[in-house]
Amino acid sequence: MIIVKSVADLRRVRAELPGPLGLVPTMGFLHEGHLSLVRRARADCASVAVSIFVNPTQFGPGEDLERYPRALERDLNLLRPIGVDLVWTPPPEEVYPSGYQTFVTVEQVSRPLEGKARPIHFRGVATVVAKLLNLFEPHRAYFGQKDAQQTVVVRRMARDLDFPLEVVVCPTVREADGLAMSSRNAYLTPGERPVASVLYRALGAAKEALDRGEHDADILRSVMSRTLADEPVASEEYVSIAHPATLDELETVEGEALFSLAVRLGRTRLIDNFLLHEDEWSTGIIAEGSRA
Ligand code: PAJ
Repeated sequence: MIIVKSVADLRRVRAELPGPLGLVPTMGFLHEGHLSLVRRARADCASVAVSIFVNPTQFGPGEDLERYPRALERDLNLLRPIGVDLVWTPPPEEVYPSGYQTFVTVEQVSRPLEGKARPIHFRGVATVVAKLLNLFEPHRAYFGQKDAQQTVVVRRMARDLDFPLEVVVCPTVREADGLAMSSRNAYLTPGERPVASVLYRALGAAKEALDRGEHDADILRSVMSRTLADEPVASEEYVSIAHPATLDELETVEGEALFSLAVRLGRTRLIDNFLLHEDEWSTGIIAEGSRA
């Protein structure tokens, strides 16, 4: 596993890697969710690259950029046994040198949901992912369904800007109680941690209502809201049932739908979702180690 920090070293090592190359972009503090993407890339591709970079441009003022958890040595030790070929861990000035002023904005699909709460977030994500795609020139890039809107924004950007790659979206990996794994779960206090499964429970309650024949999206949204309201320490930021490609809110759930929600729990902001396909649904998978 070759670990590099500069753009020049990255380009030099990348040029020697046999294709197809799979890229897994991350912000580090890796958990089973990240590792599931790396394993999938390892299974699909001749070479695997991982980037570890806490991208400042996707954090708004007052967000958690400074306190975002970091553990580089631990991350590298988790990646080694999976058989990663190349890891890029640049300092911020390598990605955004002095004088930097170019950004990628994906318009409509960046605006609702997470975009409402975090107005510059997806501009930062689209910009750094575009740079990663230019630098690594991967054949495939791997993203988690956990960040559903991010996958929509990245797919749209790749299509609109003619990046010749396949965007692969992998299922959400969950703790035994259903909580979606996230680096930000480290912020939860021991008192908050059991409450955090309420996002998964709210999604499950909506799914149950749907299975009982309820197709009215307003009613299904209120089922999610009521479940969240059962936990007074958790405050709802939004609940949504939207078209999975346009992210427009739906009136009725007939075919595909993205059920998503954001919740504040003390100082921590948590998101979760499930994607309903034509005839199936998926909330993801429970991680091996956390099976009860
Ligand atoms: P980060 O939050 O570190 O996540 C890196 C990748 O891991 C993303 O594609 C995310 O969706 C995926 N992931 C996170 N938790 C997951 C889980 N429980 N199950 C499956 N996949 C999971 O997302 C980012 O970083 C950044 O925005 C990035 C794309 C790297 C751009 O800076």
